[in-house]
Amino acid sequence: MVDRVVLRAIADAEFDRAVEIDKKYLSAGRATLTRWRSWCPELFHGAHVDGALVGVCYPRPSDEETLTLEGIAVVFERWRQGISSALLRDFEAATARAGFRRIDLGSAPDGPTEGFHLKNGYQAVQIVLSLGHRGATTNQQDLPRQPEEISEDGGVVRLRFNVEEYLPAFRDELRDACEAQDAIFIFAKTVGS
Ligand SMILES: CC(C)(COP(=O)(O)OP(=O)(O)OC[C@H]1O[C@@H](n2cnc3c(N)ncnc32)[C@H](O)[C@@H]1OP(=O)(O)O)[C@@H](O)C(=O)NCCC(=O)NCCS
Repeated sequence: MVDRVVLRAIADAEFDRAVEIDKKYLSAGRATLTRWRSWCPELFHGAHVDGALVGVCYPRPSDEETLTLEGIAVVFERWRQGISSALLRDFEAATARAGFRRIDLGSAPDGPTEGFHLKNGYQAVQIVLSLGHRGATTNQQDLPRQPEEISEDGGVVRLRFNVEEYLPAFRDELRDACEAQDAIFIFAKTVGS
């Protein structure tokens, strides 16, 4: 862990830099970030080193018991220094203070990012496959297991499979069986009592 890391909510004057970091490493965009930050500014967190913003962490608005962590990123030059883990712990404490009991998130489908969430105490709770209409109708019967939930949004069909542990080989098997466009894990962690 580097010295001099300050973790706190992002100030108005730092918002442009937060948008730049989001643009490079995540994809919410300025308009969405502006809306989400105004919902709960104290949950729009940043990591600062020597006074410069080097990382961001933000949720999407929710009025449920579970808050969805939508994005977390630290600039490349600061990777593997424990900054995102510290930022996440700070965000979790703020989330619990705000009255939420649980955080969930959809992880990017790569080993390092999934490893990051596992190392920070998150458990895999779901696999989500995203299919086009055609894939949904032609390949769903080939799945090794039927989903617990099926939904459709903007022409994309989503199949949700509940899991109790991180099973990347099973995720890949599901993805390949129906030629899914996307196959990700949802991770979750209890933060409140
Ligand atoms: C994923 C990300 C946030 C991790 O940030 P970070 O500050 O480097 O993370 P930390 O230093 O706290 O890493 C904690 C642990 O996560 C795992 N990890 C993080 N990055 C890793 C990598 N590139 N390869 C393998 N393991 C990695 C390791 O177990 C690491 O512990 P270790 O360094 O003691 O081995 C960062 O790589 C990033 O900003 N990526 C681009 C945006 C992104 O993909 N965000 C996640 C969207 S869901």
